[in-house]
Amino acid sequence: MKLALFFVSWMVCLGLSACGGGGSSSSETSMSAAALLGQEIFKDTSLSGSGRMSCASCHDPDLGHASPFTTSVAFGGVNLDMPGLRLPPAIRYLRFNTAFYIASDGTPTGGFFWDGRASSLAEQARGPFLNDHEMANASVRDVVQKIATASYATKFKEVFGADIFNNDDMAFDRVVQALARYQQEDVDFASFSSKFDAVNAGKATFTSQELRGLAWFNRADKGNCAACHPSTKPNNAPAALFTDFSYDSLGVPRNSLIASNDDVVFFDKGLCGPVRTNLSTRTDLCGAFKVPSLRNVTLRKRFFHNGQFDDLRKAIRFYVSRDTQPELWYPQDPLGNVRVYNDLPTLLRANVNVTEAPYNRTRGQTAALSDTEIEDLWFFLDTLTDGYFSP
Ligand code: HEC
Ligand code: HEC
Repeated sequence: MKLALFFVSWMVCLGLSACGGGGSSSSETSMSAAALLGQEIFKDTSLSGSGRMSCASCHDPDLGHASPFTTSVAFGGVNLDMPGLRLPPAIRYLRFNTAFYIASDGTPTGGFFWDGRASSLAEQARGPFLNDHEMANASVRDVVQKIATASYATKFKEVFGADIFNNDDMAFDRVVQALARYQQEDVDFASFSSKFDAVNAGKATFTSQELRGLAWFNRADKGNCAACHPSTKPNNAPAALFTDFSYDSLGVPRNSLIASNDDVVFFDKGLCGPVRTNLSTRTDLCGAFKVPSLRNVTLRKRFFHNGQFDDLRKAIRFYVSRDTQPELWYPQDPLGNVRVYNDLPTLLRANVNVTEAPYNRTRGQTAALSDTEIEDLWFFLDTLTDGYFSP
């Protein structure tokens, strides 16, 4: 049985990025009862004020659990017309993330959300149910009553106790625990089944273009991508995660399509606020957002915390020419001065990373990667898509 499945998925998926490793149910039998409930809850659109939005609406299993929307932010609320502030991130491989901490060398690390404000997957999951521009339920009680009438309500009582629905807070706690268990246990959330993994397992070989892309990705004098998106295995995971869960201030241009940005004095400053509130005095951390994993990145429609870019090649070109040709990325004032790093208040623009490659250049210098090299890099990144083989 297992062997047959292996061959089918191998033959169908070999080399086709369309396989995506999406909503397969092959892992169901190995999940705990709580995780199986989490799976039901994750895709249940009735658990929203609109009746039309679930976790899966913004984290699409067929796209590496990234946003399916072509817009920079998702629209939620009771009429699905309330814009969010940030791009819904891809949520795979987060079981290897930790709670937020500041490492001994001062590096902010871990935490959930783009600003790390939630300390666990369970704590994170409390947010969307009640957020008025996401699932927009009226209250915890509202969510729990919907669960109590769902098709899986009996199962929920079997797993969490016959009288679990008598205590709203306890029941809601079990809901978010189940969602966390699902994301931790379902193999689709961390399948390590990409071509990159197949090559490491000796079951495939890179093309020469992919190999060149890998070199540009790793080389400190070229893309230097691996400095923040490591391509080597960390201690706590079976293979490379392409994120070290640290934070950096990249100076991503302000996105005028985000409604909150209509207010010229509003700035989403990531770690230092305003969404996250407990680091507001650490102005040195303003502008820093969490490094996302690059696994499945070629399936994404939008890039960076504010969804500013809709094209991966453009996002990479931004990396290498942000400072060599800033006029390509930032608006100019009437005098022709380029307003660089314009998504931060002037006084905080010095936080933007200008020392590490590929950000160690100045105006007029040659970019760290040519267009041909960016193309190579794209093809390497495409080898990080899950569903290429069955590990
Ligand atoms: C309306 C779209 C939307 C819905 C619905 C939604 N999310 Fe999200 N999700 C987001 C956005 C936007 C963020 C980033 C928010 C931020 O950083 O402040 C996010 C962040 C996350 C993260 C953190 C990722 C990381 O890298 O730390 C996880 C995990 C997650 N969501 C899981 C869920 C679960 C579970 C549900 C259902 C209970 C859910 N989401 C429902 C839009 C959505
Ligand atoms: C100095 C650390 C650093 C380096 C070097 C770096 N990145 Fe990133 N990367 C980040 C951070 C931080 C973010 C999130 C920034 C944000 O959204 O504001 C990010 C986001 C991204 C995203 C958006 C992904 C998504 O889901 O939105 C892509 C694509 C990406 N990086 C690719 C690369 C490539 C390719 C390279 C090499 C050319 C590279 N990065 C080098 C830190 C880095």
